[in-house]
Amino acid sequence: MISRFDFGSPIDTGAVVRQLPVSGGSVPYFALSREDHALCFTLDLAQDDIIFGLGEANRGINKRGHLYASWNIDDGLHTESKNSLYASHNFLLFFSKDRTFGAFFDDPGRITFDLGYTKTDEARIISENGDLSLYILESESLGAIAGDLRRLTGSSYLPPKWAFGYIQSRWGYKSEEDVRRIVSEHRRRHIPLDGVCMDIDYMDDYMDFTVDPAGFDDLHRFCGEMAEAHAHMIPIIDAGIKEKKGYEVCDEGLENGYFCTYEDGTPFVGAVWPGRSYFPDFLREDVRAWFGAKYHRLLDAGVDGFWNDMNEPALFYSENGIRKAFAQAERMKDMNVGIHEFFHLREVFADMANSPDDYKSFYQTIGRRRIRHDKVHNLYGAFMTRAAAEGMAAHNPDRRNLLFARSSYIGAHRYGGVWQGDNHSWWSHILLNLKMLPSLNMCGFLYTGADIGGFNGDATEDLLLRWLQLGVFTPLMRNHSCQGTREQEIYRFSLQNQMRDIVTVRYALIPYLYSEFMKAALSGGCMFRPLAFDYPDDETACRVEDQVMLGGQCMIAPVYQQNARGRYVYLPEDMLLVRFRSASDYDCFPLEAGHHWIELELHEMPLFIRRGCVIPLSRGGQWVDAVDSTDLTLLGWIGSDASYMFYDDDGLSTQVGLKDGLTEIAVKSNAQGTQAFGEGLTLHAGRLITD
Ligand code: NOJ
Repeated sequence: MISRFDFGSPIDTGAVVRQLPVSGGSVPYFALSREDHALCFTLDLAQDDIIFGLGEANRGINKRGHLYASWNIDDGLHTESKNSLYASHNFLLFFSKDRTFGAFFDDPGRITFDLGYTKTDEARIISENGDLSLYILESESLGAIAGDLRRLTGSSYLPPKWAFGYIQSRWGYKSEEDVRRIVSEHRRRHIPLDGVCMDIDYMDDYMDFTVDPAGFDDLHRFCGEMAEAHAHMIPIIDAGIKEKKGYEVCDEGLENGYFCTYEDGTPFVGAVWPGRSYFPDFLREDVRAWFGAKYHRLLDAGVDGFWNDMNEPALFYSENGIRKAFAQAERMKDMNVGIHEFFHLREVFADMANSPDDYKSFYQTIGRRRIRHDKVHNLYGAFMTRAAAEGMAAHNPDRRNLLFARSSYIGAHRYGGVWQGDNHSWWSHILLNLKMLPSLNMCGFLYTGADIGGFNGDATEDLLLRWLQLGVFTPLMRNHSCQGTREQEIYRFSLQNQMRDIVTVRYALIPYLYSEFMKAALSGGCMFRPLAFDYPDDETACRVEDQVMLGGQCMIAPVYQQNARGRYVYLPEDMLLVRFRSASDYDCFPLEAGHHWIELELHEMPLFIRRGCVIPLSRGGQWVDAVDSTDLTLLGWIGSDASYMFYDDDGLSTQVGLKDGLTEIAVKSNAQGTQAFGEGLTLHAGRLITD
């Protein structure tokens, strides 16, 4: 059951696709209070209350015990104390023996989630706008509630199948020659690869929808050449439009009034990579149609997807901000600058970026309402993603394209995926990557992944190898790093053979991962879940923070500590441990429920399959289209019978349905041996362990 409660004048965020009547009764679970405009929802927490949710957020799978803020921000230092990242996913799942319910705060302004931070036994959620719709979701299980949220907010975005391949990226590939070398080095060394991301360096002077003629003299020809090498090109698009006369996107935006404006109606100016820039008002349908159509130029040149960046929107400085900072410096220039003044001056300059004052200084239009940006701040990236998705759909409604973005809000999960932003080459960020998977999934974002190897800082080769061992399972499997950091392509490292072997595991798992992804997307399920979703009565499982369920059959538990040669794992039920070294080199161990120490050498990665389940493994391939999803080896620990509902499709068309793509794989074992059946499939039962 979903109940809707409205407060003040809620803004239509586009998150909800099913309009529900406003409930006349009082809000269950929460006590309400007003503090000026802000609205505060308070809830007493029992000792055993667990709080899941918040999608892309810092810290635990269980969010209890800290302070979070929904305020999309470009901050590339994800330390434990940070309250906000790039996205706002205002959905919480409260779970205990006595009560299980979900709460979606549909409010695009700043919200603070004090989840037992100020007082361990109290949650306080404060909406600064005070204008919002609150949806309370109640159902029989955690999974059912997450499913209800999806029914309320719409089905998740479907990427093409090739987007499950390995993608190489780096800020710093400046030319055709750079990209060509990346592809050929992977091919030469048999490291599977499906795509290369083109970062801002491909653009002419950081202007969206342009191509630097010095680096890429003919993008169309180049994309054709890359397509022959089975490599998809994925350029970046940024939110800020360079202020430059004669630059078509800028001229058209100014002529038609498409940009966000100051209160007096003149276009707001902030600085990002291209310097002084304007910001399209993506909340307007006409602006989305205009901007979305710009993607056609690159699609016509042969690219197969995009990543939308800097769309919090990031502001390095604003016109006003820099003026004030220089004025302050000017005032101080003849002073005998004491230490306090010095720190103050330093702060004035540091605080210029993403300043709250700047977000209050410009306006957007939603429907007929002109609204100050900070009130709708968390929607900016979501609506940029929507513009891109609608533009791509208009270009070819029958074809799925890759699209993922940095900033988002619930609702954007219908249009694209998200990557987890500028992480670091830190071991703790492998774990953070894992924790975000179930949290994002329950908010609808299924297509996701983090920068494997870490974006900021220098990756060590053991870190990259271990991170790849988690990346094998994440729908977006992209190695990305910042310019100036240690080069991070697999072939730069002496452990490249072991890394390559781990990537081959990904390609062997493509049929299973794609099947589980599509089943989750088409049925409103979660591909990744906290263990509590599957074992709600197992108190130990409910509090596990470093293992997550994958699909209906598996659990993953990566190694995320340097120098570890294994890890402890808690098995809530009997499971088959598959210890992979490569697609063709692995061993299987049936393990009983309970705690286990699992030995895992640096080049070994674990996958746990629930007893009674089977999963399919392909022979792999150097790119996704080369993977034969009809020739499958089955893995599992089964009794006499087992089955798996296998989903597959052409991987590209938008006209897909769950029923059309499902084939039942049935396994039967008796004294004569084990046999497997599946219509249209060649099945090998060699890797099945029977009782
Ligand atoms: C910030 C993004 O998060 C990062 O991935 C990208 O490389 C840089 N912008 C440069 O475009």
